[in-house]
Amino acid sequence: MNFDPLNMPQHVAIIMDGNGRWAKQQGKLRIFGHQNGVKAVRSAVNFAAKHQIKVLTLYAFSSENWNRPEAEVSALMTLFMKALDSEVKKLHQNNICLKIIGDKSRFSESLQKRIEQSEQLTSQNTGLILNIAANYGGYWDIVNAAKQLATEVKQGILEIEQITPDRFQQALVTEDQPQVDLLIRTSGEQRISNFLLWQIAYAELFFSSVLWPDFNEEHFAEAIRAYQQRDRRFGGC
Ligand code: IPE
Ligand code: IPE
Ligand code: MG
Repeated sequence: MNFDPLNMPQHVAIIMDGNGRWAKQQGKLRIFGHQNGVKAVRSAVNFAAKHQIKVLTLYAFSSENWNRPEAEVSALMTLFMKALDSEVKKLHQNNICLKIIGDKSRFSESLQKRIEQSEQLTSQNTGLILNIAANYGGYWDIVNAAKQLATEVKQGILEIEQITPDRFQQALVTEDQPQVDLLIRTSGEQRISNFLLWQIAYAELFFSSVLWPDFNEEHFAEAIRAYQQRDRRFGGC
């Protein structure tokens, strides 16, 4: 695939965008696009596992996506539940550790239970860490971390002076995972849409015009090739 296997990003995050437009192009309902997006998720996970990427974070549902019509939101929840049921065993067989990151409290009890079981099943796996961001928002993540630290200060188990960027990071949903090296967004949109605000501080950004259901391993490889040509300076020269 023509990239350097020794210079892989450790953490890749993807904003999987364009399902609705993909469906519209075929004269179908938006949910048809979401259904076809699942195949692209499988191929991205395969690619990441095969090429020794440590962490793959996929944006599946944002904290703002509740603003969509009720029918679309509930279809997405059903799809999420189905995908958990059908995919978790395979993820487990492939030694993948699944984490659902986001505010899970707004999901139905049954979905929350399935999430917990899936995370539990795969928690000891040592291969790829797969974060699925569901009801995730970067503002929420940061505020949630601030609340945790404030509580610890109030309880007298943390000093204000001990709040460093590293300590703050530990309170975010990604905890001790490496920061994002490469952020990919499909569908031609060039914005962050409240994804991992803190974790992308020094990420390389790659925007692909491909709509998410069409995003395949070759497109992923193209993003990796672009990443490998970047000069990452981290403020140095
Ligand atoms: C991304 O595709 C999937 C979710 C946000 C759940 P969209 O549904 O945003 O598709 P477009 O952007 O309208 O084409
Ligand atoms: C971001 O896409 C959220 C996900 C891909 C899950 P949106 O389609 O919701 O973002 P905007 O509204 O175009 O910024
Ligand atoms: Mg969109």
